[in-house]
Amino acid sequence: MYSSDLFTLLLSASLATALPAPAAAPNQNQFPINDGFPNPNNDQLQKIFRGAHGTLPNTPIPKFHADTFKSLQLIATNELAEVSLYQICLLKLKNGTFGPENFVNEEHRQFVIATFDAFYQQEEVHTLIGQGGLQANGQPEVQPSQYQLKTDTYQDCLTTANILGDNVLGTSQGVINQAIAAGDSGLAAQLDSLIAQEGQQSGFLRSEMLVNGKHSRIPGAMPAYTASTREFLFALLEQNFIKPGTDKNNINLPVYFPLSVQNKNIDPVDQTLNYQVNLNPKTGNNYKFISKVNWDSKDLYLAYISGQNKPFFEPIKNVKMNSKRLILTFDADFPADTNIINGFAVGALTSGNNSTTAQEVTSNTVAGPATIELTN
Ligand SMILES: *[C@@H]1O[C@H](CO)[C@@H](O)[C@H](O)[C@H]1NC(C)=O
Ligand SMILES: *[C@@H]1O[C@H](CO)[C@@H](O)[C@H](O)[C@H]1NC(C)=O
Ligand SMILES: *[C@@H]1O[C@H](CO)[C@@H](O)[C@H](O)[C@H]1NC(C)=O
Repeated sequence: MYSSDLFTLLLSASLATALPAPAAAPNQNQFPINDGFPNPNNDQLQKIFRGAHGTLPNTPIPKFHADTFKSLQLIATNELAEVSLYQICLLKLKNGTFGPENFVNEEHRQFVIATFDAFYQQEEVHTLIGQGGLQANGQPEVQPSQYQLKTDTYQDCLTTANILGDNVLGTSQGVINQAIAAGDSGLAAQLDSLIAQEGQQSGFLRSEMLVNGKHSRIPGAMPAYTASTREFLFALLEQNFIKPGTDKNNINLPVYFPLSVQNKNIDPVDQTLNYQVNLNPKTGNNYKFISKVNWDSKDLYLAYISGQNKPFFEPIKNVKMNSKRLILTFDADFPADTNIINGFAVGALTSGNNSTTAQEVTSNTVAGPATIELTN
């Protein structure tokens, strides 16, 4: 039954039956990890630099404006999750959790181990850049949370890292825009340098991924990467990857109702996708959700962002509310072939259909972001 009376539903949310836990079997490591991170001493730091194949920038850290603190907090939040992910996967690679059937031969396995070893330490350096910027500006560092990252198989490691990485690659554009707007263009160049490295990760992950048993994801996903925003990356982390209630950092960025695309193996063809909004989410930081959304509204649209194009909008249809489980489902067309959408796109349920940038889409978002990973 499709109910417009969501406000009442939310007020009685505590009576509702619990939603199924996220698909991921919780899998996490303890911070500090055995290399001293996130607070390595000098010797440990030198080891991290060697493992990361490079140092922290040794230039002075500028004074940043207040808005940029949010960006640094977001970067640290995200990078801590990425360290956790790559480190768990590295341990599993090394100790044989992922059997030889995952690799062409032992040489390939050793190459993958060397790659993850560098990736996790590069992510550690990225985290320390964010934390160093906060510290030098008299701001508290971001404390690690607990994470729920799906790493049961080697392919899970690649998939989870790819979802995080794609959203980071998109979000960096928003962060750079905000830094320039705040008067901190110095951060823009440094961010760009981190993102170049994350782009290298993405190419590797995509090359190793199997879709329907095939390597169908070529390393270069698209000519101009899909845009996203700080708010979307933060929401994604809190909705999916941080264990409920374990993020105590009180970062001043919003979290929206989680929106997920239900289709698997999405080919780059014109099609209709099925979406789900979780109206009773448990999030990393116990964020309070906006409660007054008129889900009946004819004014709700699915916004798509791909590449550096103007967002476009599709009406939502077959809207159904499961009042018991507090799940809203609907369909929306996804004209991937018509619009030449490949690799990775961002979806969001927005009020209205006239936003012209990713940031405007974000301002009008009621649920999102949906990470749309295509098969190519
Ligand atoms: C391998 O490492 C993972 C991650 O630390 C751990 O959960 C698992 O129990 C280890 N397996 C073996 C066989 O040591
Ligand atoms: C955009 O919204 C207006 C109403 O505000 C509607 O008339 C129009 O059909 C919508 N366009 C699309 C592409 O859905
Ligand atoms: C978009 O439409 C809303 C009303 O639906 C209006 O308030 C807003 O000014 C419009 N924005 C633009 C950029 O046209």
